[in-house]
Amino acid sequence: VRIFSGSSNPLLAESICEMLGAELGSVTLSRFKSGEIYVNYEESIRNCDVFIVQSLSHPINELFVELLVMIDAAKRASARTINIVMPYYGYARQERKSAPREPISAKMVADVLTTAGASRVITIDLHAPAIQGFFNIPVDHLTALDLISEYLKALNLPNPVIVSPDAGRAKTAEKLANHLDSPFAIMFKKRPAHNESVVTHVIGDVEGRTPIIIEDIIDTGNTIVNVVESLKERGASPAIVCATHGLFSADGLKRLEHPHIRNVVVTNSIAIQGYPPDWLKVLSVAP
Ligand code: R5P
Repeated sequence: VRIFSGSSNPLLAESICEMLGAELGSVTLSRFKSGEIYVNYEESIRNCDVFIVQSLSHPINELFVELLVMIDAAKRASARTINIVMPYYGYARQERKSAPREPISAKMVADVLTTAGASRVITIDLHAPAIQGFFNIPVDHLTALDLISEYLKALNLPNPVIVSPDAGRAKTAEKLANHLDSPFAIMFKKRPAHNESVVTHVIGDVEGRTPIIIEDIIDTGNTIVNVVESLKERGASPAIVCATHGLFSADGLKRLEHPHIRNVVVTNSIAIQGYPPDWLKVLSVAP
């Protein structure tokens, strides 16, 4: 077995290697002046089970092509299997057509990875679990819910309520509520435009409680800010915000510095840029 890292999250790849007592493989990843990507494995990987750690975070298109070039180089170096450890699967939010003449980009990503030569994909908390079925190769769909749940249990929060920020996350919120033996509430939202959302109504009792919001992705943070403000209007205390993937696009992290947010909990499925603020807890998915 040989483990290599793309450019998206080398620290996570190193932590994974540490847990396994393995050494991270050496690979040259560089760019030509034209922007074309060059990859060279610096050791023989003939007949090896190669694991490539790469999240499709920022800049997603660059990281995606880098991954494809890494897969191609591994295939041509006679690797036995090429296993993609993709903690964050980008393009997952485009998993169906919601208007005519739109792509299903999550399926396109699956097709391209497979065509390039991937033998297996290991991923965490897909935006839509059905994306597993977009592949004709094995997909290990892991979850960070237990990790988040154990962390929350240890906080021993008084009077919590688990909050699903939209109907799509209700099942996850229910699971977390069962783990923590807490009640749960569901918010309903509509999206007037990309990266915008408005809370329309809430089912469940949030007044006087500490909301624990559970999301799959925090991107710009707009959804969370709307949810938190609407919880405040309904008499809830400042919230704990949890998500598996912290993308924090367009100053998303700054947006979460909000008087009604106590703490934000994410995992290291995506590398955090810069020094994390003290109200941000980053749990490691390396184990
Ligand atoms: C979408 O349905 C996802 O579950 C998240 O709610 C969404 O991606 C969050 O995006 P943002 O942080 O930009 O509002």
